[in-house]
Amino acid sequence: MSRYLVTAALPYANGPIHIGHLAGCYLPADIFVRYQKLCGKDILFICGSDEHGVPITIKARNEGITPQQVVDKYHTLMKNAFADFGIAFDHYSRTSAPLHHQTAADFFKTLYDKNVFIEEVTQQYYDDEVNQFLADRYIVGTCPVCANTNAYGDQCENCGTSLNPTDLINPKSKLSGKAPVLRETKNWFLPLDQYQEALTKWINSHENDWKPTVYGQCFSWLNQGLQKRAMTRDLNWGVKVPIPNTDGKVLYVWFDAPIGYISATKELMNLRNQPDAWKDYWQNADTKLLHFIGKDNIVFHCLIFPAMLMAHQQFILPQNVPANEFLNLEGQKISTSRNWAVWLHEYLSDFKNKQDELRYVLCAIAPETKDADFSWKDFQARVNNELVAILGNFVNRTLVLTHKFFDGKVPATEPLQPIDEIALQSIAYAYAEVSKKINEFKFRDALTEVMNLARAGNKYLADTEPWKLFKTDTGTVATILHTSLEITAHLAVICQPFLPNTAAKIFGMLNINPLQLSTYNANVIKVGHQLNQPGLLFEKIEDDAIQAQIDRLHAAPIADSNHSQSAINALKPQTTFDDFTKMDLRIATITSAVAVPKTEKLLQLTLDTGNDTRTVVSGIALHHKPENIIGKQVVLLANLAPRKIKGIESHGMILMAEDADGSLKFVSTDVFTTNGSTVA
Ligand code: 2FM
Ligand code: ZN
Repeated sequence: MSRYLVTAALPYANGPIHIGHLAGCYLPADIFVRYQKLCGKDILFICGSDEHGVPITIKARNEGITPQQVVDKYHTLMKNAFADFGIAFDHYSRTSAPLHHQTAADFFKTLYDKNVFIEEVTQQYYDDEVNQFLADRYIVGTCPVCANTNAYGDQCENCGTSLNPTDLINPKSKLSGKAPVLRETKNWFLPLDQYQEALTKWINSHENDWKPTVYGQCFSWLNQGLQKRAMTRDLNWGVKVPIPNTDGKVLYVWFDAPIGYISATKELMNLRNQPDAWKDYWQNADTKLLHFIGKDNIVFHCLIFPAMLMAHQQFILPQNVPANEFLNLEGQKISTSRNWAVWLHEYLSDFKNKQDELRYVLCAIAPETKDADFSWKDFQARVNNELVAILGNFVNRTLVLTHKFFDGKVPATEPLQPIDEIALQSIAYAYAEVSKKINEFKFRDALTEVMNLARAGNKYLADTEPWKLFKTDTGTVATILHTSLEITAHLAVICQPFLPNTAAKIFGMLNINPLQLSTYNANVIKVGHQLNQPGLLFEKIEDDAIQAQIDRLHAAPIADSNHSQSAINALKPQTTFDDFTKMDLRIATITSAVAVPKTEKLLQLTLDTGNDTRTVVSGIALHHKPENIIGKQVVLLANLAPRKIKGIESHGMILMAEDADGSLKFVSTDVFTTNGSTVA
């Protein structure tokens, strides 16, 4: 029998869960799993905390506590918030669990014994003040692509470019603030280039069933040519490298984290006393493995983890990776460090018993095909105008009228009229559409179909006006209310995956047990059945509750160490005039500008430098429209070594200044008559 294994990205245990996480992967995964369970499918939903990686050690250091204390705190906070919000994992584990360490180490050892890795001594940055190698985020510097002065050693969060520490200009240790030195160290690399062909073939086979955004991102990586990637780090926090003489080395967090899905499945099956059953989910070709993630995780789930699974040879590959785009908040990027977020645990404490309201809004605006925006006013409007006015109103009117006219007992119908038949047909239609949309990972559309059934119910009541007929035509009123109760019951059935608490309330008011969902089953409401007293499904959200949230958001944005929005960057260490004169800064004119396909932040520019015409890739697309910058004079670092960015060779870097609001502005004021003029 076929089965599903659904995973949701293991969240880093260095901060609480916010609405961006929920809309990105946990809510869609939960809706999918709840739906399939209601259809009677064999499906497991696996997640857990990602407790390794450099940011956790940095947080521990900054707070003067141990990394274990950091992850213990956030693991508990996240696990409880997920449970309270109704994300119904079958198992929520953590990567500091001994079983995970064992599983990840065994996986690495298997690949090591198969000679999959390339063992290589390379030069890595080292902080000789604190005697530590500086992996990934321990190092910051200037991004060679967009000139962001706070780019990390693994990635620039401003332009999204993935970097090596040695790509950074003016690298600086996060630990001592000093310039690091290069030191030799041995690490184990996964030769992704050797899997390029197999990965290309496999991803090609999903051209029609993966989201275009996911498929496109995979191909933009593949087109650049995959390169070997280090799977170990010189660090003390993580899964120890399971080979002799490797003290002080751990597995790269992105090697061990996805194996967390496997170890969590094992842990669950141990708890169920079926210690071998995890293999059915990971090693049986009948299983459909689905990874729900945010778009920043695509490369890891579609290329690196699959390459690891291919190398191991005993595991299935994901059948789909339905990644979502990002959710912004009130028009700005959600930022943990700037405290620009709606934190789930705070929402749950401010809006008691309103889990479904947030589930509804986050699903209705989900960033399924492009980035989306959450605003508190929109949240209020959707709750009041949709949940209260459409769904709540229909269910309430149906139940109140049945109590008023028939003492809460389901009345018998008379022969159905076309208007009744049409109303009932909308139930079967909603079932079919919800099923289709959910299986296509189109949760927004699926939710619209649920609401359309409630809209159809309201229209039916508005068209038939049973409240006007009771004195003259009791039989017709009985038919209308019976039909409306039938719609109500089916609304409860199909809203279960999206709004589980609401569904439970409706079943309670109808006084029936929750129903499965596989196919539309007519006549679930029996004549003579006694209903319970109705209550309101949703309450209006008042202006002051919304204003309080907006005020809180604007109250205390914390200085962002990765953003100059609220802090002026400290001066860099002194440099020499000689070093400065090595840079050849020139005036150049932008003669053409186009967006780099499948990226959000990059523009491909053609520049007239006076000496030549050249291509420069610049991370300014969020700040400047291509059509507005043609003819603009800029300052160009003209002798920067060429660099391939998204497959395009970039020759130089345009100087940009970052304003207090985070906007990037061109560094040029006067108009020059000659391109190629020197700047010094
Ligand atoms: O981006 C993140 O939050 C990562 N912790 C996701 C890890 S997913 C998986 F591979 F474990
Ligand atoms: Zn950048």
